[in-house]
Amino acid sequence: MLVTPLTKLLGIRVPVVQGGMQWVGLPPLVAAVSNGGGLGILTALTQPNPEALRQAIRETHKLTSKPFGVNITLLPTINPPDYEGYARAAIEEGVRIFETAGNSPGKLIRYFKQNGCIVIHKCTTIRHAKSAIRLGVDVVSVDGFECAGHPGEEDIGGLVLLARAAQELNIPYIASGGVADGRGLAAVLALGAAGANMGTRFMCTVEAPIHQNIKEKIVASNEQDTVHIFRTLHNTARVFKNKVSTEVVAIERKPGGAKFEDVRELVSGARGKQVYETGDPDYGIWSAGVSVGLIKDIPTCEELLARMEKEAEDVIDGLVKVRVEKAKL
Ligand SMILES: Cc1cc2nc3c(=O)[nH]c(=O)nc-3n(C[C@H](O)[C@H](O)[C@H](O)COP(=O)(O)O)c2cc1C
Repeated sequence: MLVTPLTKLLGIRVPVVQGGMQWVGLPPLVAAVSNGGGLGILTALTQPNPEALRQAIRETHKLTSKPFGVNITLLPTINPPDYEGYARAAIEEGVRIFETAGNSPGKLIRYFKQNGCIVIHKCTTIRHAKSAIRLGVDVVSVDGFECAGHPGEEDIGGLVLLARAAQELNIPYIASGGVADGRGLAAVLALGAAGANMGTRFMCTVEAPIHQNIKEKIVASNEQDTVHIFRTLHNTARVFKNKVSTEVVAIERKPGGAKFEDVRELVSGARGKQVYETGDPDYGIWSAGVSVGLIKDIPTCEELLARMEKEAEDVIDGLVKVRVEKAKL
């Protein structure tokens, strides 16, 4: 078994978290991850309002007796959703583990801590990780350059970012981005992480509530099949490379650059949602990490987590054999 500060804190068997995923982090996937020994996380904003989140939590409770969490992503928007309403509904339904992500999470983190919750906060820089620690979070989830979704603007790969976290942080941290197998899990443990957070790998499981075509598209892809959009708008997002994301990048590269209005229709969330419903990978923008290159099959979450656990143990055992006493050489 792999025992880390994360497994102890969350009461889970495998040190793997399924990060919040818009349109994907729904009860069947979340429960399957938690039943498989990891930590499943519901994505609050995938639900249209706090009451719908309450129902999703109840549904998840019916599917698993294991711990699971709720992600609240703070968006850079003029008309913010009712974050507090979502948070309150989740706490009232008994959720005690939260993943926060995005801008200015202070108020929300304080609210969760006042209510005795465990908070995992996503950061892309050591500076932001330290601010989150000052706010009282229990774990930071360090998103490197490889990750799906928002990697920040600094382009620091996981290898250096995690080693920097080992130097600088005084609470447990987990590695987010680029992990999709047991080898990656063992590697991030070696870099001092208490576990891994995965998104893309979990999209490609039997229980992920997305069209089979998209899962097969991921299996058929390689590590060159993602791209950064919104780079010029300083809100970089790593997404699957398809017709729409290629067009967005072309618009951004035009002389004079682009404003959000120029790409608004192309990048709409409604179109992204359609991708998962209809199975057309070119219909809209959908998040995917560089780890698409590592994904070769569509297992159940239980199979995936058991396999990762065994692979990580084998890698760690193999490393022990690398170390030979001088006298034996
Ligand atoms: C389809 C998809 C949707 C995502 N949506 C969110 C989101 O709404 N909020 C969030 O904090 N992270 C989101 N993420 C990021 C993941 O939680 C996680 O940090 C990331 O996937 C890690 O990188 P990986 O894909 O290489 O494992 C999303 C990722 C994917 C693949």
